[in-house]
Amino acid sequence: MVAVRGPAPTAPIRIVAPGREWGVEPVELLVERGVEKVPSTYRRVSVEEEEELMALNDNSIAAAAEVEEEDRIGSGMDIPLIDLKEWDESHREEIVSKVREACEEWGFFRIVNHGVDVHLMQRMMQVAKEFIGLPIEEKAAYVGRPGMISQGYGSKYTIGAEDAVRDWRDYLFLWLQPEEVRDYAYWPSKPEAFRETMDQYSREVQELARKVLGLMSEGLAQRTGLLEEAIGEPPYQKVLINYYPACPQPQVVDGFHQHSDIGALTMVLQEDEAPVGLQVRYHNHWVPARPLPASFVVNVADQVEILTNGRYKSIEHRVVPNRHRSRLSIPVFYDAAPDVMISPVKELAQIPIYKQVKFDDHEHAFYEYGANGKNMVQSYILSNHPLAQPLSAS
Ligand code: OGA
Ligand code: NI
Repeated sequence: MVAVRGPAPTAPIRIVAPGREWGVEPVELLVERGVEKVPSTYRRVSVEEEEELMALNDNSIAAAAEVEEEDRIGSGMDIPLIDLKEWDESHREEIVSKVREACEEWGFFRIVNHGVDVHLMQRMMQVAKEFIGLPIEEKAAYVGRPGMISQGYGSKYTIGAEDAVRDWRDYLFLWLQPEEVRDYAYWPSKPEAFRETMDQYSREVQELARKVLGLMSEGLAQRTGLLEEAIGEPPYQKVLINYYPACPQPQVVDGFHQHSDIGALTMVLQEDEAPVGLQVRYHNHWVPARPLPASFVVNVADQVEILTNGRYKSIEHRVVPNRHRSRLSIPVFYDAAPDVMISPVKELAQIPIYKQVKFDDHEHAFYEYGANGKNMVQSYILSNHPLAQPLSAS
């Protein structure tokens, strides 16, 4: 943290790049200026609620906060680990059933020996780190144009209510595939290796995503192409470089509020040395998805839940910030094209649970109102289906 003179900030600080009409209010800037108390803009727990919680506890406020942080990290559980070594040879059947079980039970798993060059993963993380490490004035040149689903550097990602609670997160968001959707204006020119690394990373991760979708399809039917075909050609690919600055009061904010991912499949690269940040809902627990070098965390997203008629689960997850250090993660999203209609695949759904939804509408709703658990997917449950009663069951 940079030593600064002057009072600690109590509200977001806006910066505007020269020649731009729009700005950004990075969380990072609050931290750099020595924020001591989380501004109300980011608070999920009100001061009153926090005080009530503290009053219930005999310990000092600091100790209570630490206990709560521990609780949020959950017990000794872990998401399934799947080794993809020899995935196309002798171990295929075994791997397919592990993938199926993980998608049905957890919606999340970790993969190792996945075929993506580990050095490329390290270079990707390194260039992301270098970009995030640039002075804010330089990053501000990549601030996304305000509006729906805007690419670029930012912090507040929703366009809905101005007073919606924000996440303790800054990011760079880019569309990667098909190549004609790329907007290179938002691709950093610093560090120098950023563009080339991102380009290569995009191709290798897309290839892996297809393989994993193939294994997931095989777990449901005898056909490798089932899910890929339903998602359609060309699939879209997007990337987030998520930066979660250290937070003086991690117990009152979210790094990323609980949500399920909207696309088909997500593959997350986490910073190896970072503390636990990502947590996955497993029944009533939040299970940490700890960083593991050379692995990807893979998760089923909403489109696959709908296509498989709920057999594969798009599970809620969230990110908690850490009091002492920042964390970087790089999720890559495999999505349908905007005009693709998503509905349960006939051969998997004798009685469909979900109505048909156009991916574009689903995506817009997410960026308008922000992440809120699984409320969007629940709203697609057909009203005559037993699961629709009651709608709020989670
Ligand atoms: C996301 C997400 C997890 C993380 O971007 O959808 O859940 O660890 N990210 O940043
Ligand atoms: Ni997510």
